[in-house]
Amino acid sequence: MTITLAFDVYGTLINTHGLLQQLQTLVGDKAQPLSVSWREKQLEYSFRRGLMSNYLPFTECTRSALEYACQLHKVELSDEQKQELLNLYGKLPAFDDTLTGLQQSDPQQFNCFAFSNGTEAAVRGLLEHAGITSFFKDVVSVDDLKTFKPNPATYDYFMQRSQGDRDRSWLISSNPFDVIGARSSGMRAVWVQRTPEAIFDDWEVEPDLIVTSLEQIGDQILDYYTDN
Ligand code: 2OP
Repeated sequence: MTITLAFDVYGTLINTHGLLQQLQTLVGDKAQPLSVSWREKQLEYSFRRGLMSNYLPFTECTRSALEYACQLHKVELSDEQKQELLNLYGKLPAFDDTLTGLQQSDPQQFNCFAFSNGTEAAVRGLLEHAGITSFFKDVVSVDDLKTFKPNPATYDYFMQRSQGDRDRSWLISSNPFDVIGARSSGMRAVWVQRTPEAIFDDWEVEPDLIVTSLEQIGDQILDYYTDN
């Protein structure tokens, strides 16, 4: 029986800190902290909008988070420069292990989906730019529900769209909040811990598997079923 893989997009397939070079040109040494605050605030805004039932697309969370990060780090960018950064956000690069990881996920055994907070158009743009669209059976965006991960409804929606068996449906994510959300909704989940510094929240929920690269996904999941 086929196994369903729900690949998270921002931070898992696609590097949200992939604009460091452009940021360095604009703001020098503040590039790294600005990039970190931008991403953290983007996620915070998605959580808050979800909780408040005050939905705006993820692109809007990204836009207002950039404004906040610029103010926080006392960085003055013109409207044109900010717009250029937002345009580039639609062309963020994939991680080095993304392509090989997908190539190693045998389509005979795995049905791969992209599953994201991003709108379908934004996600398709990123996959296209990274040259990885063909690996995915479909794109599932929480935009259809007008809320964000980790609302349990988003994982239920993924299950409904992918038509898989919950016990054989795996979220693949570098974002611990996403892994915890999926596990809490009865999906299986792999946490992609690309660096030893990445921390998993000390909650009562743990990933089924931890990998350090997307290249380990296929083998580790198949081994999981052999061992269990
Ligand atoms: C995504 O849904 C969580 O940002 C991440 O793509």
